[in-house]
Amino acid sequence: MTAIEARDLRYAYPDGTLALDGVDVSIDCGERVALLGPNGAGKSTLLQVLGGVLDPDSGERRYFGTDAPADELRDRLTVLTQDPAEYLFNPTVREDVEYGPAQLDIPPAEADERVARLADRLGLEALLDKPPFRLSGGEQRRAALASALAVEPDVLLLDEPVSNVDATHRAAILDVLDELAAAGVTLVVSTPDTELVPRVADRVYLLDTEGSVIRVGPTREVLTDRALLERCGLRPPQVVELFDRLGREERPLTVTEAADFFE
Ligand SMILES: Nc1ncnc2c1ncn2[C@@H]1O[C@H](COP(=O)(O)OP(=O)(O)O)[C@@H](O)[C@H]1O
Ligand SMILES: [Mg+2]
Repeated sequence: MTAIEARDLRYAYPDGTLALDGVDVSIDCGERVALLGPNGAGKSTLLQVLGGVLDPDSGERRYFGTDAPADELRDRLTVLTQDPAEYLFNPTVREDVEYGPAQLDIPPAEADERVARLADRLGLEALLDKPPFRLSGGEQRRAALASALAVEPDVLLLDEPVSNVDATHRAAILDVLDELAAAGVTLVVSTPDTELVPRVADRVYLLDTEGSVIRVGPTREVLTDRALLERCGLRPPQVVELFDRLGREERPLTVTEAADFFE
């Protein structure tokens, strides 16, 4: 089944900036997809249009093969935009994480369980009773992610979910995303970071700065095409560069894959 199908999306901001110019997207249920592009490419705009946070000027969107609009699918489709503060508006982090489940009439005992589990996984235990505005940027991002995950959506769209997050908590977030993917959750992650992409996506939508998708393909294919990436102001992952310089034919994308080739 298709989770999100969008055709010919066009979106211009009120000042006239054309952020999306005829974008087609089709994402199957259970897929892991990255929206990759340089700053200003339109990743955040696309993520929000796909998630129903913004309505396109023109184009069509369909979710789960039905005609239901995105705002009727709040329990199935969750968007985490770039600014974590948008999700943190309660007196404490705990209340923010509980907020989504409460909106969906999840019984409080079940909601408590979700909060405890997510706090444990994302290292938020010591922060639950703090006011969110006292948190650091990376802490806020983890708290916002916990609030998004607490509703247990089928489709999760995340805008740069690990930026500003330290290595330990980044690994924790990526482990949680792995588990969600293994459980069949559809994941859409936007990032300008080619190093992150192999960790979170099997397929890539590559955006250029003209508001267009210039390539859609398997992660390995897109991330090893240096000329294509450079046209978008991006570079392949360092491991790809290393194997290039060593004159090797293999095309690992991560240190783990590269180590396998050396062994
Ligand atoms: N609120 C806004 N008003 C005007 N222009 C905007 C606004 N938000 C984003 N833009 C512009 O739209 C383009 C796409 O932005 P964005 O989707 O945020 O890109 P990305 O997430 O890939 O960095 C950029 O040129 C950006 O400057
Ligand atoms: Mg962005």
